[in-house]
Amino acid sequence: MIKPIIVGNWKLNGTKKKIKKFLKLLSLFVKKYNPKGTIIISLPIIYTYIIKNLSIFKKKKIFSGAQNVDNHVLGSFTGEISPNMLNDMMIKYVIIGHSERRFNHKETNHIVANKFRLLKQENLIPILCIGETKQEKVDNRIEEVCIKQIDIILNTCGTHAFDNSIIAYEPIWAIGSQNSATPSEVQYVAQFIRQYINIKSNYKIKNFFIQYGGAVTNKNVSELISKEDIDGFLIGRSSLEITEFIKIIKLINI
Ligand code: PGA
Repeated sequence: MIKPIIVGNWKLNGTKKKIKKFLKLLSLFVKKYNPKGTIIISLPIIYTYIIKNLSIFKKKKIFSGAQNVDNHVLGSFTGEISPNMLNDMMIKYVIIGHSERRFNHKETNHIVANKFRLLKQENLIPILCIGETKQEKVDNRIEEVCIKQIDIILNTCGTHAFDNSIIAYEPIWAIGSQNSATPSEVQYVAQFIRQYINIKSNYKIKNFFIQYGGAVTNKNVSELISKEDIDGFLIGRSSLEITEFIKIIKLINI
């Protein structure tokens, strides 16, 4: 992985037509500017074949991501998709523990940790979302919440769990809102997360990156990326429009 790492999380949006157009324009941009860093697009799973057919995908200029995975490998789990199926379809990066899944689908820290374990077994790269609610922020519990969400991964997967992984720090109150966390707030938490994981791992973990997510736009991205411990972004709304997404890529100079 090369930073900055930018992930476009399309959530439950898009049509075949819109996605094809978006990817065509993104391909042209990438071919022309050859931006540094890692660009990952996480489409609704049914549309990910469109990325696979692009020549820039074959040249590893953009990557395909998933928005979720099941915490089982195979069997009677109607409607689910397993880590090995993602691998089979060349989907390398997998978002897990997004707050929308934690809330809407009642995913617990335990379920998320199990997903993390299965992804590592399959040599896939987890993008683990962690972060606090508004009330937890007001109560000064940001570190405590992050520690809880990190510890269960370390306890389940071992002290080197975060080798070759991404944590997306996403304050829940910022997601989909008009207000991102301030660059200094994000830097504070990102630095805390990095130090905490290094201490717990008992060695400097390799290939570990911290993203920020929550109302990232072309207005705030330059200042956010200037912070030392922010390695990239997990972007929802601003990843849906090609002009905005390209603006952001240019601004973070990847
Ligand atoms: P947003 O979403 O960029 O629309 O705030 C971020 C996310 O949900 O990952």
